[in-house]
Amino acid sequence: MRRAVTLGPKSTLSNSTSRSASLSFSNCLFPTLKDRATLLRGLSGEEAALQLSCRHPFPNQTGTMQNERLFNQSGFYGFVLQSNVLLHRQAAVVATEKLGGWLAEQPGNPAVRILDLACGGWPASIAAVMANHPHTQFHYSGMDINPDQVALASGHFEFPENVASRQILEGNAWDPLRHGIRGQFDLVYSGMNLHHGTPEELAFLAEELSVLIRQGGLFISHDVYRPDHTPYVRRPDANPQKPDESWQLVPPDLLKRKAAAQSLQFDSTPAAWREDYLAVTHAALLDRGADRPGADETARHMRQRDFPVSCSDFQDIFNDAGFTVEICRFDEPNEPLSPYISLCTARPR
Ligand SMILES: C[S@@+](CC[C@H](N)C(=O)[O-])C[C@H]1O[C@@H](n2cnc3c(N)ncnc32)[C@H](O)[C@@H]1O
Repeated sequence: MRRAVTLGPKSTLSNSTSRSASLSFSNCLFPTLKDRATLLRGLSGEEAALQLSCRHPFPNQTGTMQNERLFNQSGFYGFVLQSNVLLHRQAAVVATEKLGGWLAEQPGNPAVRILDLACGGWPASIAAVMANHPHTQFHYSGMDINPDQVALASGHFEFPENVASRQILEGNAWDPLRHGIRGQFDLVYSGMNLHHGTPEELAFLAEELSVLIRQGGLFISHDVYRPDHTPYVRRPDANPQKPDESWQLVPPDLLKRKAAAQSLQFDSTPAAWREDYLAVTHAALLDRGADRPGADETARHMRQRDFPVSCSDFQDIFNDAGFTVEICRFDEPNEPLSPYISLCTARPR
C-alpha cells in the first residue's frame, strides 16, 4: 500500500528559491530494514531467465564494484539510502521540478523514456520523481553492474503505477552503448555514481550521452561533487593494495581526451575537503542510527573509491560535449553532507 509522506527537512537551492519539500513520496520506495528481509527472497525462474538474457560481458575493470558488499542485497547501502545522508529526498524534490519544467515544454503529454545509469537495487529518487508526475507515463530502463542489484531492482522494487514498462540490464553504466543500451531517451538519470570516475572517463560518458539523449532531452545527475576551488584528488587506476585489480571504468584505449599530464598521477596526500567529507559522512550515519560496522564499511568504501570532480569541472566537461549545464547546490543547514552534494542538469545544445 502506498502512503504519501512529507519529506523531512526543507529543501533549499543556492538561488535561494526555497520550497517546503512536501511531495507525494511513497514510503515503500525507501524500504525499512524489516522490509529488506522480505526483499531478500529468491527470484522466480522466469525473472532469473530474463536477467540472464540481459547479461553483457564486461572486462575485468572496475575492480570490486561488480560484487561490492556494500551494495549487495544484504549490504549496508539500504540504510544509507533510508537515512537520507546523501540527500536522496532533496534530489527527488529538485528533479521533480526539473522534469516538471521540461514536461511543460513538450507538446501534448508524451510518454517519457528514462534511462537510469547505475540504478542500484532501490532506484528510490527517480521512482519518486516518476510518482510525482502521475499523469505522465514512463518507460524505464535501468542499468547496474552488480547482478545482485539488478535482481533486486527487477524482482522486488516497487515502481509507481505510471511506469508502463521497465527493464533492468546488467552492464557498465560508464559505457552504456557497448553494454546493450540502444535507442534514444528523453531523460537520463544518474544517482551517486559519477564520483567514481576520472575527468577523462566523465568526458567519455558525456559523449555517449550526447548520442543516447534525444535532441531536446535532459540529463540529471544527483551526485557527490567536491567543492569548487578545492584540489582535485585523482582516483588510482588500480587498487593500491592489489595492483592487478584495475579500477578503470572505461578501457583506457577508448578515452580520447587525456587529462593534463601532471594530474594523471595519483597523489596520496590527504586533501582537507576529502577528509572532512569522509568524517562527516561517518558521523552522520552514526548519528542517524547506523551500527558502527556499517558506518565503518561505508567510510572505507568511500575512502577507496570516491574521487569526485567539482561542479565546475562537470560544467566544463559537459559544455565540451555539447551540453548546456545548470547546477543546483543544496543549502541544507541540517544536512551535514550538503556542501558535497549537488544536482546538475545538462541539455544537448
Ligand atoms: C551508490 S549506489 C547508487 C544507487 C542509486 N543510483 C542511488 O542513487 O542511490 C551505486 C551503484 O552503482 C553501481 N555501479 C558501480 N559501478 C558501476 C558501473 N561501472 N556500471 C553500472 N553500475 C555501477 C553499484 O553496483 C551500485 O548499485
